Amino acid sequence: MAKITQSVDLAARGRVAVLTVDNPPVNALSHHVRKGLHDGIKQATADGAVQAIVIVCAGRTFIAGADITEFGKPPSEQSLHSVLDLIEGAPKPVVSAIHGTALGGGLEVTLACHYRVGVKGARFGLPEVKLGILPGAGGTQRLPRVVGVEKGLQMMVSGDPIGADEALRVGLIDEIVDGDLATAGVAFAEKVLDEKRPLRKIRDLTDKIAAARSKPEIFAEFRKSVARQTRGFRAPESIVKAVEAAVSLPFDQGIKRERELFVELLNSPESKAQRYFFFAEREAAKIPDLPADTPAKEIKKAAVIGAGTMGGGIAMNFANAGIPVTVVEVAQEALDRGLGIVRKNYEATAARGRLTPADVETRMGLITGSVDFKAAADADIVIEAVFEEMPIKQEVFARLDAVCKGDAVLATNTSTLDVDEIASATKRPESVIGTHFFSPANVMRLLENVRGRKSSKTTIATAMAVGRRIGKVPVLVGVCYGFVGNRMLHQRGLQAEKLILEGAAPHQVDRVLTDFGFPMGPFAMSDLAGLDVGWRIRKGRGVKASVADRICELGRFGQKTGAGYFKYEKGDRTPIPDLEVEKVIVDVATSMGITRRAISDEEILQRLLYPMVNEGARILDEKIAIRPSDIDVIWVYGYGWPVYRGGPMFWADSIGLKALRDRLLEFKKQSGDAFWTPAPLLDRLASEGRGFIG
Ligand code: 3HC
Ligand code: NAI
Repeated sequence: MAKITQSVDLAARGRVAVLTVDNPPVNALSHHVRKGLHDGIKQATADGAVQAIVIVCAGRTFIAGADITEFGKPPSEQSLHSVLDLIEGAPKPVVSAIHGTALGGGLEVTLACHYRVGVKGARFGLPEVKLGILPGAGGTQRLPRVVGVEKGLQMMVSGDPIGADEALRVGLIDEIVDGDLATAGVAFAEKVLDEKRPLRKIRDLTDKIAAARSKPEIFAEFRKSVARQTRGFRAPESIVKAVEAAVSLPFDQGIKRERELFVELLNSPESKAQRYFFFAEREAAKIPDLPADTPAKEIKKAAVIGAGTMGGGIAMNFANAGIPVTVVEVAQEALDRGLGIVRKNYEATAARGRLTPADVETRMGLITGSVDFKAAADADIVIEAVFEEMPIKQEVFARLDAVCKGDAVLATNTSTLDVDEIASATKRPESVIGTHFFSPANVMRLLENVRGRKSSKTTIATAMAVGRRIGKVPVLVGVCYGFVGNRMLHQRGLQAEKLILEGAAPHQVDRVLTDFGFPMGPFAMSDLAGLDVGWRIRKGRGVKASVADRICELGRFGQKTGAGYFKYEKGDRTPIPDLEVEKVIVDVATSMGITRRAISDEEILQRLLYPMVNEGARILDEKIAIRPSDIDVIWVYGYGWPVYRGGPMFWADSIGLKALRDRLLEFKKQSGDAFWTPAPLLDRLASEGRGFIG
């Protein structure tokens, strides 16, 4: 075995040379990997004893792509293109043998090889779109030549990987292998040699793209089919353009076009935000005072208390992950209703073809119901999702304390109550933590884990680990009213209400935010969630929201009653502006002595989002969030903040904190309202010319 570079080895197995990449954790194509592959291929092709070359990877995965940390730095030797040219142009067959994930530049390496084999569990994808870029090492030109234009477009624009069976079916790999990967790769290479198979260069294949040459409408149809989910993103359109080039231009010109589009995207604000977000999401898993090896409790069984809107969805998450879960309710009727809704949800998913009827039964089989708290006795984690009232929560926790095993994690899904106060109802506050799911709980990825004053490290580590296991993105936050997400949302809500009183229409406010990239605006969102929920909470806390209260008094609770801030046709969720609401708004404004005026979209955007950033700064100052990027993760996953704008804190930096702070001061001067006072952290960073991030 000869070391080519720190991360690439070359070894001979008879007449086959094996190049092994070993660059933990994910074998990213760092400069020493590129150089190792380059020099290794050169060495093997120059060696008369070598007749074929196999590329494999050590560790948990095949190459997972370019090294994202190198983006934006000066290019270093060798370029990935030069490595791929060398592989594809090699005079001896080059085979890649794949396990784990061959992603991005990793898949592009394999596409430059003459043959590809993979193990059954391997996955193949070009996820660059998720970083706001496109496959920039020939992927847009080679993939359609192997799998066809439509499949290629779909893989690159979704960024989602495919499994080995599908890869074999669409021609992306030549064989599924098992056993030791290098041995299997060598065996396949031997077969290529014995059968004298040609050096199959994907660049020369045309049969799969020929069809699209005579059917250019494929592209228009594809654009239309993805318009909704790609709205606001820049990369998907560039990918389509690059594939058009693959179809209409000779290979080398297509590569040139791909390069131009790649560079354009790499420098775009959208990609910078998305790359930032990639690391932000991973950073959120790290908790400064919790070493990475803090043991988390193994979760073999879960229990959920309450089978309402949230409880049912939370239980589904466990069943989806294969974890048995017991749902405890006060009465059989409520339990039956709750589990009935869970079944209906699964059946609806099956009707859309995303689950088989057998999957539905397997998952339902993992969920059991009970009206006896003792059913939670053997659960490793219990998540309480009963009514949002402190005495009820405390009573539930006291009962859990009495029945649950000593080392169980006791979690609350409260959205507004004090986790420490809930924990005080038990004799084991160290085992109590908040797990704040977002609605619908089986769909939304965000999980705000709320660390109580006494939550132990094991309790925290368990909540973070189980969150990931059930497919969520957990972010650890501290105790305060509304935690991070809703506390910031509240600031936006206050301004939204003021804006409509001062002259903006609810649909104008919503449009400004949907234009910004949110899936919906605050008023459509309130209508979807149900206006009565907030009304009840406000009544409980003795606070008023003039317009919202009046709308609720009219029996308009949102979509469920066919009317809220907007009206809705039966069976249709499209919000329609309603004169009745306008009248309420004008009445309330008049009674408050407000002179209504036309308000610009720019002012609306600033008044909605700048206070959120300001609140984010307070949240950081109070150490409720660990870091600014955690706030961004919360807003992207919990509230639909467009990822191509990074999140509120990243976005604030892109505007410049000084400009933002100064605008807050202007609003303060105009309104005389202390609401606009810049948070001390924002003020300090703005004065120092710094941003929140980095
Ligand atoms: N470059 C640099 N670092 C990377 C990386 C990459 N491509 N991919 C992952 N990492 C790092 C992560 O930041 C993380 O670091 P940390 O431990 O310090 O937080 C570590 O590797 C492990 O990553 P994950 O926590 O994500 O590990 P998982 O096992 O959950 O997932 C994975 C593995 C599926 C490979 C996932 O990491 C992933 O999706 N990576 C990105 C893949 C990608 O986007 N590739 C395309 C890159 S762009 C490209 O190739 C351009 C080309 O076309 C020219
Ligand atoms: P819900 O009213 O739909 O369901 C509550 C359920 O708890 C009811 O089925 C009720 O019968 C049951 N219940 C009440 N007391 C019980 C007891 N002592 N033992 C067992 N079951 C009991 O309420 P929802 O919306 O599911 O909310 C539950 C919790 O989740 C609340 O704390 C709420 O603040 C929180 N939450 C709600 C969100 C939402 O969008 N609905 C979002 C995030 C958190």
